[in-house]
Amino acid sequence: MKQYIVASNWKMHKDIQEANIFVLNILKNLLNQKKTKVILCPPFTALFNIHEIIKNTPIGLGGQNMHYEAKGAFTGEISGEMLLAAGCQYVILGHSERRHVFGESDDFIRDKVRKALTVGLKPIICVGEKLEQRQAGQTLEVVRRQCDSALSVVGEHEIQRCVIAYEPVWAIGTGVVATPEQASEAHVMIRKLLAAKYGQAIADSISILYGGSVKSSNAATLIRAQDIDGFLIGGASLVEDEFVRIAEIVDEYLKQKES
Ligand code: PGA
Repeated sequence: MKQYIVASNWKMHKDIQEANIFVLNILKNLLNQKKTKVILCPPFTALFNIHEIIKNTPIGLGGQNMHYEAKGAFTGEISGEMLLAAGCQYVILGHSERRHVFGESDDFIRDKVRKALTVGLKPIICVGEKLEQRQAGQTLEVVRRQCDSALSVVGEHEIQRCVIAYEPVWAIGTGVVATPEQASEAHVMIRKLLAAKYGQAIADSISILYGGSVKSSNAATLIRAQDIDGFLIGGASLVEDEFVRIAEIVDEYLKQKES
């Protein structure tokens, strides 16, 4: 069964104390969302503390990045093994800021995806086109290339441990959200690509998240769009009421769908 997911990407925000307060303040509300999988991805320094707070709950914990080596002379890097030991089950890989601010290539991201699966982490694989690529009509081609690269190392028995996040770069942190039609077009293409590689039944069980300026004011419309199975949220995930409200919106939608 496909899981609907509301995942937060805090980026470089909140120190240990701020993170603890934030999670304690919203914990009860998040636990009320029974049908939606909530995943928190704080900065590395706050992972272990948050793990201590949520470890006996269904709330997931993820790192925002990792290196594919287990250890070594890689100043400033964190390994998959370290994320696991800090209590993570997930890791965001290929986020557009990693690709475009820090210059990570498709190959580098592919190697991290492989390593995440090997150590037992679930990768949240981010893909998405830049504005000029969309304007040049290259959206689907770019997204396909990024997916093909990352999934080239993912076997049939592993793909169900992966989450895909379509995050158009022009929508991230800009306040310009993709229309449901724009998002769906990419999500439908990703689902087709998964079906061609792994079969329709498996493709239908993979969560494909949308990310890019998701807020409580646009979540209800987006979650109803074809092939959108949840959200990866940056800015709005740092605001208690906003993040809780988005999780509630997804949960309410799922309850409606079932009744
Ligand atoms: P945003 O970020 O919600 O602030 O646009 C999304 C992301 O970077 O994952």
